[in-house]
Amino acid sequence: MHEIGIEEIAFSTSEYFLDLEDLATINNVDPEKYLKGIGQNQFSCAPIDEDIITLGVRAAKQILTDENVKDIKFLLFATESSFDNSKSAGMYLHEFLNLPKNCRVIELKQACYSATSAIQIAKNYVQIHPNEKCLVIASDIAKYEPKTSGEPTQGAAASAMIISSNPKVLYFENFSGICTKNIFDFWKPEYLTYPIVDGKLSTFAYLGCLKSAWEEFSASSKISYNDFFRICYHTPFAKMAEKAHIILQRINTENREININDQLIFNKTIGNTYTSSLYLSLFSLLANDQADLSGKRVGLFSYGSGSTSEFFSCIISNEYQNAIKKTANNFKQKILNRKKISYEKYLFFNTFKLENNFKLNKYTNDSIRLKGIFNHKREYELLD
Ligand code: CAA
Repeated sequence: MHEIGIEEIAFSTSEYFLDLEDLATINNVDPEKYLKGIGQNQFSCAPIDEDIITLGVRAAKQILTDENVKDIKFLLFATESSFDNSKSAGMYLHEFLNLPKNCRVIELKQACYSATSAIQIAKNYVQIHPNEKCLVIASDIAKYEPKTSGEPTQGAAASAMIISSNPKVLYFENFSGICTKNIFDFWKPEYLTYPIVDGKLSTFAYLGCLKSAWEEFSASSKISYNDFFRICYHTPFAKMAEKAHIILQRINTENREININDQLIFNKTIGNTYTSSLYLSLFSLLANDQADLSGKRVGLFSYGSGSTSEFFSCIISNEYQNAIKKTANNFKQKILNRKKISYEKYLFFNTFKLENNFKLNKYTNDSIRLKGIFNHKREYELLD
């Protein structure tokens, strides 16, 4: 058996953010509700010429080189912001990232869980083909209808991870606890612009699934709460991860304090990134935790509404700090460089409906932007 895990990891987000104090003022809500009650400060706001492809390309380009791109034999694209029921959005990425012709490409869907599923498929693939690599890209623009309770929990980001038998960042252990139930807590029929959300049910379902998945994980692995140095959670908003952590601490009565603050730093300012959310927590932990995580076990809880969830675990590699240094710095800089937008601009981005044969104005100055849809085909402008 080979140790298989993340060789490289990088993130991208959009150039704009909305401040939640501004949103609270407009919505006539006490800002403390958003800042403390929900636990979020800002969210990344995607302009109309940004989409899951532009975000995904910018994340993946940071970790692909002329050397490693030749070994990528499988691209798994996870999203719940897809725009085509037939053609995988991964096809655009295959082209823009110059992936090899003999590389499989698929798109996966199960709400926020699908990136975890992509990782599990990639891990099994690499186990059989240890000299090949898989590229997992998760990309989403989380939008809720203005003036609804989900509005402060929006966000936009993409993650790119190379899964291989050279796990410079971390390797996955082989235990999982799974919980699947057909429920209607959050779903988006294709004829609707915004998702339908039963907020209370969704938080209740998330916590119930965590409990079930944990029970299966701990029983089958014999790994106990105290064996973890850190635990990362799917984080639609920071308070959700905090609630999840309290539940896990309550189930495991003889526990020590496990700090989750550092893993929430990126999420609190980027917002919900759906499929990337758990991995944004993980990236935040690796990039911000002052403790040396080398050799330490980290728990991972993935939740996708609808719902499927999984508790699994990984061991951080000794060389992780070097492996993430460049991409973590890139991302921190990117967050600092984002421009704050007005409520009116945010509302325009949120409510804009893209139609066929419509040329988009330029809001994105980064390396790739969406030009528009012409003859039902998306066209992009490469800016470098
Ligand atoms: N000062 C401080 N705190 C305040 C406050 C104030 N003035 N006013 C309210 N609060 C607190 C409340 O007490 C509450 O805290 P607790 O949960 O600890 O009790 C918190 O702020 C939120 O208040 P409400 O419960 O009244 O908030 P709400 O009903 O307006 O919205 C929500 C909360 C339902 C989660 C909503 O944001 C939502 O629907 N979000 C989208 C769905 C979601 O993210 N669900 C998470 C699980 S599903 C999932 O994880 C998949 C996914 O990615 C979507």
